[in-house]
Amino acid sequence: MRTVLLKNEDIYRGYLILVNRAYRYREQCQELSHVGVWNGEEILYESRAACALDRLMGAIGGWEHIVPVSGWRSRTQQQAIWDQSLAESGREFTERYVAVPGHSEHQTGLAIDLGLKQEEIDFIRPYFPYEGICQTFRGLAAAYGFVERYQEDKQSVTRIGHEPWHFRYVGTPHAQIMAQTGLALEEYIALIKEYRYGEDPFVFQSYKVSYVRAAGEVTEIAVDDAQPYSISGNNCDGFIVTERRNV
Ligand code: DAL
Ligand code: ZN
Repeated sequence: MRTVLLKNEDIYRGYLILVNRAYRYREQCQELSHVGVWNGEEILYESRAACALDRLMGAIGGWEHIVPVSGWRSRTQQQAIWDQSLAESGREFTERYVAVPGHSEHQTGLAIDLGLKQEEIDFIRPYFPYEGICQTFRGLAAAYGFVERYQEDKQSVTRIGHEPWHFRYVGTPHAQIMAQTGLALEEYIALIKEYRYGEDPFVFQSYKVSYVRAAGEVTEIAVDDAQPYSISGNNCDGFIVTERRNV
């Protein structure tokens, strides 16, 4: 066993952070990679997510037909997008399709907007249909750690409109669990809170997932380091521990 010390600031980093209208993103340093160019702009994406995206695209020949339209955005960029959308399309549209500055998943580097290659591509709402190569991408997304974040039937949960083009990297096995259970990230984070670390975990295939509530400045947990494990903050109040189990 090994003792792991989790600092308060660790709540706000990791692949499972929930960033939405209720939980803002606290700017952290991300390691970013280049995933493409669109409209003369270099598209940057968090390095591990970029690697997973490249592998998925490689498996389906995706980059021939799909372009990355928007990846990492600074808060300033998100503000500029918000302001422009507000001026051009009004408040209702903007609140539906643009996250409030400070509260966008794009600021984490873990969100990417993808569009089918076409002459004209809409920056706010790229076309990414439920057929052809885009649907092939969707079919494999979870296996590579991606979820379609803003689904039509989850608008009351996410408080964002239906965005078939916006994918969020959460990693495996979480993307597969979310795909199988049909849970939005908000719902998944809430579900895992019911599985306290040290008690019965949430079990999925060879993984166990559980939650540790932050206890002050530093939270101490004992993990079994004979098996691989990973820990992510939830951006709310604690941590999610993912471990392998003996099967
Ligand atoms: N379009 C998504 C909601 C964003 O602006 O982050
Ligand atoms: Zn997006």
